[in-house]
Amino acid sequence: MNASAKAIINLDVEGPVISRHLYGHFAEHLGRCIYGGFYVGEDSDIPNSGGIRLDVVEALRALNIPNLRWPGGCFADEYHWMDGIGPRSERPSMVNTHWGNVEENNHFGTHEFMALCELLGAEPYINGNVGSGTVKEMSDWVEYLTRDGDSPMVRLRKANGREEPWKVPFWGIGNEAWGCGGNMSAQHYADEARRYATYCRDHGGNKLYRIAAGASDDDYAWTETLMKAVNCLGCAKEPRGYFQGLTFHYYTVPGPWSDKGSALEFDLDDYYATMVKAARVEELIAGHAAVMDCYDPKKKVGLILDEWGTWWNVEPGTNPGFLYQQNTMRDALVASVHFDAFHRHADRLVMANIAQTVNVLQAMILTDPDSGALVLTPTYHVFEMNSGHQDAASLRVDVKSEGTTRAVGENELDTFSVSASTKDGRALVSLTNLDADAPLEVDLDLRGRTVAGVTGRILTADVLNAHNSADATGVEVADLDGLTVDGGVLRVSIPAHSFVTVDLELA
Ligand code: AHR
Repeated sequence: MNASAKAIINLDVEGPVISRHLYGHFAEHLGRCIYGGFYVGEDSDIPNSGGIRLDVVEALRALNIPNLRWPGGCFADEYHWMDGIGPRSERPSMVNTHWGNVEENNHFGTHEFMALCELLGAEPYINGNVGSGTVKEMSDWVEYLTRDGDSPMVRLRKANGREEPWKVPFWGIGNEAWGCGGNMSAQHYADEARRYATYCRDHGGNKLYRIAAGASDDDYAWTETLMKAVNCLGCAKEPRGYFQGLTFHYYTVPGPWSDKGSALEFDLDDYYATMVKAARVEELIAGHAAVMDCYDPKKKVGLILDEWGTWWNVEPGTNPGFLYQQNTMRDALVASVHFDAFHRHADRLVMANIAQTVNVLQAMILTDPDSGALVLTPTYHVFEMNSGHQDAASLRVDVKSEGTTRAVGENELDTFSVSASTKDGRALVSLTNLDADAPLEVDLDLRGRTVAGVTGRILTADVLNAHNSADATGVEVADLDGLTVDGGVLRVSIPAHSFVTVDLELA
């Protein structure tokens, strides 16, 4: 018997708003993400604006990219921003010790990043350097970017060709302070975060949302230490405003870090192990949120997952420090499962950034180093199909299913994942069938509003490792025809290993 599920949605009971920033991105000076990805230089034959590749911009604008985190990652804690301003030919070089030990010429710096954000229509999320930087260096950077009027940093910015201050909403205070960001203890970092944050000023009309560098995976003790830095356990008073958000990082890595598995060559066991790891993100969000609730019951401090996604062995023959990997239907399903969890925790999770946007880890876009061809990955399509959830009110989905659980080692995987939201007189439902082989029949029981029209889209492929390259397209979006609502019930047949979105017009 085929698996089946009934999913009940009360279309008139709106939950917390799903911040568009849950669809955020991350661009590090790592491998070919910036150089050869976003930035090809002004002399490139590839159409560009000030060196920024325009087809990359166009593809990301189609996703409504809400924010972009830069310059790292681990790179952020060895980046000295003053090296990346002024005439490019005069900028000093450095060694990117984390990522391939290659020379960084600093040709992509502050002005180039802000120009990129302007082209994308995305809000900048700048990650400052705590690990090898100084409080003054970070404070000066904020002043350089955001202060109006007259001051030493304003004069420097103007001398470099930018009169008006920029708006910078999101500011990261270091990255992975427990590791590449300085190998600090939680308490030491919490003290440093308060000190650095103190001098990251709100200049003029620019209001910074300061983000403390948080935990890895399930290190709830790290989160608790940061929360203790802003409030006491069970206190009714508002948290002190040193920082407004804190992060955690979680990558989907089914194998050991020493051999994470191949992006393209995997068997069914690998596939299901990957999905168990992907689904675990929900447990981690809930765990960090529960700790935060104890110190901040009114949910004033935001939880931010500013690095997530699959991490495989690099593609054979590529630089191990460049983290270049292909992206298959399996990666797309990892993404859709993450988004369902994000939507369900929209009350506390306010931002998420997939790692990383171009040519690194679970990328949206791959570019061919020789031909320059641009490829949209299966993961890109999940972001695009789900973009209607941005800033929509979440809708609770109650599920009753049969045959959708599967034993995977010691774990149990639910092979059906679903979430929904509503805005502007429409509702969007995202449905994933993780079963590698069997289709799934879902009855969406739509209550509370009348559905006047329905369309559907599907992302699927014949095989799990289908992918896109400059030579062939293995995964693309298609219309899902024949959807009708009968007596308030919409039956959706989801083929094996597929992602479906259903767009409802509400009367
Ligand atoms: O995204 C790659 C790296 O993963 C980042 O630089 C770091 O923060 C994390 O460990």
